[in-house]
Amino acid sequence: AETKRIAILGGDGIGPEVVAEAEKVLKKTEELFGVQFETEHALFGGVAIDQKGTPLPEETLELCKSADAVLLGAVGGPKWDNNPKELRPETGLLGIRKQLGLFSNIRPAVIFDCLKEASTLKPEVLEGTDLIVVRELTGGIYFGEKFRRDTENGQEAVDTCAYNEKEVERIVRQACEVARKRRKKLTSVDKANVLETSRLWRETVNRIAADYQDVELEHVLVDNCAMQLLRRPASFDVIVTENMFGDILSDEAAMLTGSIGMLASASLGEGSLGLYEPVHGSAPDIAGQGVANPIATILSVALMYKLSFNWQEAGDVIENAVKKVLDAGHRTADIAVDKSKAVGTSKMGDLIVEAMVR
Ligand code: NAD
Ligand code: IPM
Ligand code: MN
Repeated sequence: AETKRIAILGGDGIGPEVVAEAEKVLKKTEELFGVQFETEHALFGGVAIDQKGTPLPEETLELCKSADAVLLGAVGGPKWDNNPKELRPETGLLGIRKQLGLFSNIRPAVIFDCLKEASTLKPEVLEGTDLIVVRELTGGIYFGEKFRRDTENGQEAVDTCAYNEKEVERIVRQACEVARKRRKKLTSVDKANVLETSRLWRETVNRIAADYQDVELEHVLVDNCAMQLLRRPASFDVIVTENMFGDILSDEAAMLTGSIGMLASASLGEGSLGLYEPVHGSAPDIAGQGVANPIATILSVALMYKLSFNWQEAGDVIENAVKKVLDAGHRTADIAVDKSKAVGTSKMGDLIVEAMVR
């Protein structure tokens, strides 16, 4: 088989800590299946600003473009929070998504039964929860024109939210395809009672969904959706929504699983290149302590195998190993009921690697 090339961007804060555990999983896969990955690290985010003067150096972007998949930790931190926009780590993240054409962000929230007690929600509410947020990733208010101007009332700041039909069509089609392979239920989330972009979104969803008669469609306003996610999480299958709503709702959905440290993601485009990263950020509050949960990043590798390498079996090996370790009672602090018994980042990685079997 051909050698897969994986670009690895650790980033900032806990990014490199959780990515190191995911790399152990890559190594173990090589042993188990007799394959070889070609991995290469590159600077990205705050660490790239410090060393190269830009959050997304040209060589990092080129490496990613030449790879089969990108594994990313997280970027950002207080050190760069007051920088101008071009010198912010987050600008690098938006840049890499846009430059690689990764318009579709898949964020599954799956409940591990044994973690029900780790969630802040009642176990009976969580029963059966298994949903995916399909977030539009390269449009909307994140990428519209932004500027400041002086007015008689002081400075004014403007962020523009724009979507064209093509952008909506391609993400909705993706979401319909995802729903078709699952429980065939699609929830489109918008704010069509107020926003013009949302009205175009809803019209477009209706038009595209007509091609998918086997998929049941509902429209839910974003404020109501935020509430329903906590009231009836198990009733959702695939949620499709625009960039900022998807950002917010996926963090909310993370708490259904017990912790943001559990949520993996895949960012995909028209081509075969995919970018895989945890949904969480660089967690400056716990960075450097060796306590971060690496499971979101490790499960992102499972998504990489399945979605970029079309390698279901190896993805299942990872997911089963995570389940086995959790079933055995091992917990990082974020998902531990008794925090005094929690294991650290590296130990959790080792336990998962040990549990990987064919
Ligand atoms: P965050 O996700 O970094 O942290 C939120 C809370 O969750 C913190 O208390 C943190 O300790 C905890 N947490 C996050 N991941 C965890 C893990 N794996 N294990 C245990 N606990 C975990 O969000 P934030 O604090 O709002 O943002 C911090 C920085 O990260 C900011 O600079 C932000 O811009 C950036 N950020 C980056 C990404 C990314 O790179 N994809 C995503 C979100 C935020
Ligand atoms: C995420 C993050 C990013 C986003 C930030 C860091 C730009 O919150 O990946 O969810 O808002 O997309
Ligand atoms: Mn986010």
